Amino acid sequence: MNLMKGIILHGGHGTRLRPLTHTGPKQLIPVANKPISRYVLEDLKNSGITDITIVLGAAYPEKVKQYYGDGSDLNVKITYQIQDAPRGIAHAIGLCEQHMGTSPFVVYLGDNLLKGGINHLVEEFQTSNQDAMVLLCQVKEPQQFGVAKFDGEGKLTQLIEKPKHPPSDYALTGIYFFKSAIFTMIRQLKPSWRDELEITDAIQKLLDDGYNLGYQIVKDWWKDTGTPEDILEANRLVLDEMKPKIEGKVEDNSSLQGRITIGQNTNIKEKALIRGPAIIGENTTIEANVYIGPYTSIGDNVSIKQGEIENSIIMNNCIIDIKDRITDSIIAPYSKIISSKNTPHGKRFIIGERTHIEL
Ligand code: TTP
Repeated sequence: MNLMKGIILHGGHGTRLRPLTHTGPKQLIPVANKPISRYVLEDLKNSGITDITIVLGAAYPEKVKQYYGDGSDLNVKITYQIQDAPRGIAHAIGLCEQHMGTSPFVVYLGDNLLKGGINHLVEEFQTSNQDAMVLLCQVKEPQQFGVAKFDGEGKLTQLIEKPKHPPSDYALTGIYFFKSAIFTMIRQLKPSWRDELEITDAIQKLLDDGYNLGYQIVKDWWKDTGTPEDILEANRLVLDEMKPKIEGKVEDNSSLQGRITIGQNTNIKEKALIRGPAIIGENTTIEANVYIGPYTSIGDNVSIKQGEIENSIIMNNCIIDIKDRITDSIIAPYSKIISSKNTPHGKRFIIGERTHIEL
């Protein structure tokens, strides 16, 4: 059998996630202390796919290469493909034509998470005679997605990008299964109104030319992490399934409630209260009397000296020292949020472009 290969899309503008995307691609933002695209890569690997092409965008491609290397640490073989600008998902896939050759392949958007993974879908596609297979998910606001239209017998007949009047509430997820016929269609595409080569148009062409298009429906959850709210929701979904593990030092008199993971060399001081689900990385200190509430992920080398944190992501190397509660927040690495001792009136900020602050 022709072995399946994989493509992870790691480019895009990432405008909705600014300022987090000023310093790195959105797919490397951590959810439960692991970059989102790493869940994607592990899902491919767990489905037996080890020949993986990562399409890099113009924003910090070297950070992605530095993180994944040649893939040998994860027992996969990674090839990198540069996309000079975000010219569309179909454009990104088209760049991989030579490397995919005649193999069937999976395209997985690097910011998508799927509960349960794609293992069973890979098997389904490999044993079918389909030329392409899409994964659909029932969503509340189909207007924001590519939407599927079916005939009376449940056959997929049309895909419509962001329709004003959606013909169903089944949206295209960012996980696609293709054979090489898709490349013929991509070559014929013209840029859309948003100046992108649209994958929905390429799949529509397959349908119009009589190719066999199959679909599967997401049974549990699928999450596209395009906005800060999506990232926090993904964090909650992943933490809800996390296996607890305590490796650090938890002092007597501190209290751990619910499912909690604590990394090596992390210190939870006396009278700290941690209420799971929550994850705390390595070499982090949670000082006395600090409260860490449900659905919080705290990275490595963080110091929480004072304060309360809930439903938030605090990335590596941050310092928090305030007499207040931080909630629903995403705080990028090397940030410092401290109570000022010298400015009795007013708040002091030294912040980057497009920072979002709610006081
Ligand atoms: P989107 O989230 O639709 O686009 P974006 O990254 O430009 O985000 P925003 O709207 O906030 O500016 O992209 C979906 C996924 O596909 C995402 O993982 C990025 C990736 N992608 C590419 O790799 N190349 C591309 O040309 C495009 C458009 C997206």
